[in-house]
Amino acid sequence: MPRTPLIAGNWKMHGLTDALGFFDALAASGAVSRGCELLVCPPATLVAAAVHAARSHDIRIGGQDCHAESSGAHTGDISAAMLRDAGADYVIVGHSERRADHGETDDIVRAKAEAARGAGLTPIICVGETLADRESGQEEDVVGRQLAGSIPSGFGPAHYVIAYEPVWAIGTGRTASADDIAAMHAFIRSQVPDGEGVRILYGGSVKPENAREILALDDVDGALVGGASLKAESFAAIAVSA
Ligand code: PGA
Repeated sequence: MPRTPLIAGNWKMHGLTDALGFFDALAASGAVSRGCELLVCPPATLVAAAVHAARSHDIRIGGQDCHAESSGAHTGDISAAMLRDAGADYVIVGHSERRADHGETDDIVRAKAEAARGAGLTPIICVGETLADRESGQEEDVVGRQLAGSIPSGFGPAHYVIAYEPVWAIGTGRTASADDIAAMHAFIRSQVPDGEGVRILYGGSVKPENAREILALDDVDGALVGGASLKAESFAAIAVSA
C-alpha cells in the first residue's frame, strides 16, 4: 500500500477569524494537489469556518484533540462526532502538550483514538520522548511503551497516523538529527502491526530550512508542523519539499 505523504499543520492556541485567509494564500502558492495531502488543525473555534474556507482547495481540516465519549457532561470538551459534524477529517490525539498539561495517559489517548475512528475521523497519534529520556538512552523504551499503550488493538494502517515528536524539539528550534529521526522512525515501523503501511510523521521545529532533509528520509511520511504552519508561505514551502 503506498503511503501518501501528509503535511499537517497544528495551529495550537493561535488563530482568530482573520487567520482564515491562510487557505486562499496556501492555494495560491501552488503547494496544493502536488501528490501530498495537506491538513490544517486550527483551534476548535475555527474548525467549521476553516472547513468552509478550505472547501474548494483540496486541503483537509482536523481537530487538535477530542474527548473519548461521544457526548455527555464534560464541560468544555469536544467529541470526535462534533468535529466530524463540523467537517473535520482528522484529529490529533496524545500531543505531548496534552499529555503534559492535562495529564493524558496512554489509556486516555487510546480511548480518544478509538472514539475518533468510531466517528469517522483519522486520529494522528502522537508519541515522543523527553530530553531526559533521550539523554539516558531510554528513547526507544519510552516510545515503544507509548505505541503499545496508545494504539487501539484492531487498528490497521488505514485507520491512523503516527506522529513522532521528540518533546525537546517542539517549539524549541532544535530538531533531532537526520540519523536520530531515521532510527526512531524505523524503530516505530518495526513496532506497529503491518508497519509498512502506516504513515509516520516527524514533528518538532520543522521549518522550510530543514524540511527537505527530514522529508527525504525513508521512513518519514510527512510532518506535523507547529510554528511554521501559522504562515501560508512557510507551510507551503514545507509542503513543496515533500
Ligand atoms: P513546532 O510544533 O513545529 O512548533 O515545534 C510541532 C508540534 O507540536 O506539533
